Amino acid sequence: MLRNALLAAARSTAVRGLVEANPLTGAAVRRFVAGTGAADAVRAADELRGLGLTTTLDHLGEQVADARQAAATVAAYREVLHALAEAGLAGCTEVSVKLSAVGQFLPVDGEKTALDNARAICEAASAAGTTVTLDMEDHTTTDSTLGILRDLRVDFPQVGAVVQAYLHRTEQDCRDLAAGGARVRLCKGAYAEPAAVAFQHRAAVDRSYVRCLRALMGGTGYPMVATHDPRLIAIAGELAERAGRGPDGFEYQMLYGIRPDEQRRLAARGHRVRVYVAYGDEWYGYFMRRLAERPANLGFFLRSVLTR
Ligand code: FDA
Repeated sequence: MLRNALLAAARSTAVRGLVEANPLTGAAVRRFVAGTGAADAVRAADELRGLGLTTTLDHLGEQVADARQAAATVAAYREVLHALAEAGLAGCTEVSVKLSAVGQFLPVDGEKTALDNARAICEAASAAGTTVTLDMEDHTTTDSTLGILRDLRVDFPQVGAVVQAYLHRTEQDCRDLAAGGARVRLCKGAYAEPAAVAFQHRAAVDRSYVRCLRALMGGTGYPMVATHDPRLIAIAGELAERAGRGPDGFEYQMLYGIRPDEQRRLAARGHRVRVYVAYGDEWYGYFMRRLAERPANLGFFLRSVLTR
């Protein structure tokens, strides 16, 4: 219930105003968000490289309302990709893009705008020496996002996508994507979804995650195991070994600020570990989804606001 309330608040402009206006929110947000500008993101990627970790950068923002904002998102990605190349970090840093931030929801030609803008970001990434992964938003966008992935992969085969184990459809999506040799980031899923399309109980989501892992590890693509769940991390390791995948054959991924010790432990054991680093001013929706994932984070946030 608390999860659903927080996810509803993530879409509420009234709650957004309250949270953003509180001057003490900043400290809690900084745990999950690396900063506001490209320089902050590049600094975080450099620090993580020093710890033996690779990175994916997400310029925060979603559901832009007009083509001008969508173009601003593209400009922000061009800026950070240029900065990454200059800093010599493109070899260990890719970028993650939400299609709704580049126009997917625009009422006129939204999908075409998103495809054109995503293509422009892929071109900039390719010029910088790296690639792009498409984030996945709520289930109404899944077909559109996977369709855009297919189009982009004709020219940029290294472009990847996220799939969400909580959706009933995802096991089949994993089989299809794995057969096509795609890079696939498997996560549990962070949105409030109805029972008609998504598993509602944690155990069912975890079982689906394992079925999806089997499909990905058994295919010809590159699995990206995006979870902080110790049990699933262990299962992924076993399945990778059984599939004959060495350290270059898959990677673990976690969010910036979550289980940093585990990130370093896995890297020290020779695994490739990528940290998802979000940066930018539009942190509200991302921050609320992190609170929804773990009630303890809400307590931490409220304590930091109330006890000062
Ligand atoms: P689970 O929520 O069961 O957590 C397992 C353990 O991890 C917890 O017991 C706790 O120790 C720790 N933990 C998890 N979340 C925490 C938090 N917020 N704060 C502190 N500790 C926490 N989702 C989506 O819908 N679309 C997307 O595109 C992406 N992209 C994405 C990229 C990457 C790299 C990651 C790691 C995750 C995503 N997600 C996502 C988010 C994902 O769907 C999911 O909500 C979170 O990863 C939390 O799920 P876990 O698999 O970690 O398990």
